[in-house]
Amino acid sequence: MATNPKKIGIILGSVREGRAGEQIASWVLQRAEARGTHDYQLLDLAEFDVPHLVAVTPPGAAQKQYADEAVTRWSQAVDACDGFIFVTPEYNHSVPGTMKNAFDSLGPEWMRKPVAFVGYGFDSAIRAVEHWRVIVANFSMFDVRNQVALSLVDDLEDNAFNPREQKSKDLDRVLGDLEGELA
Ligand SMILES: Cc1cc2nc3c(=O)[nH]c(=O)nc-3n(C[C@H](O)[C@H](O)[C@H](O)COP(=O)(O)O)c2cc1C
Repeated sequence: MATNPKKIGIILGSVREGRAGEQIASWVLQRAEARGTHDYQLLDLAEFDVPHLVAVTPPGAAQKQYADEAVTRWSQAVDACDGFIFVTPEYNHSVPGTMKNAFDSLGPEWMRKPVAFVGYGFDSAIRAVEHWRVIVANFSMFDVRNQVALSLVDDLEDNAFNPREQKSKDLDRVLGDLEGELA
């Protein structure tokens, strides 16, 4: 472990039944934990069940106080993290709506924390990750430049995730970059 271990949340953004994201987030968690450096934790959006944002007070002004219990749980989990890895699919050339809603539902919990991206899709989610970079800027989050771009064609076989060797190297580099921002 690092002398000052940090808590890093791996956010599994897809909540779809049969989602490919589950295998990918498990791979990220396994490789991250194997480093033995920081406290990596999986934050599965399907378990948080964050409702559509309907609150009158914008989350940025809510001072981490939410009427909804599910949002409060989500807020506490995100607040406890020092940095994040967003495991994001690409939906219609952008970020998934449920994941964006979960992001929008909080405010200061994200502020100034570093974030790295593992994207996946038929086109490796390059567009979705670019969109995330613009979104997270609203909370002055530091976005790690390198990213992991996984192809549903080349890194999955018959729905089984089997990443190309280079992708494991890419992930290790991204994890190193993120940890560097937390040092
Ligand atoms: C609503 C929807 C929109 C999609 N749009 C894109 C897209 O724009 N580009 C792409 O590469 N893949 C797209 N896909 C394919 C997804 O990347 C693929 O289904 C992936 O497995 C989704 O991640 P998940 O299974 O973890 O939910 C789309 C899938 C869905 C469900």
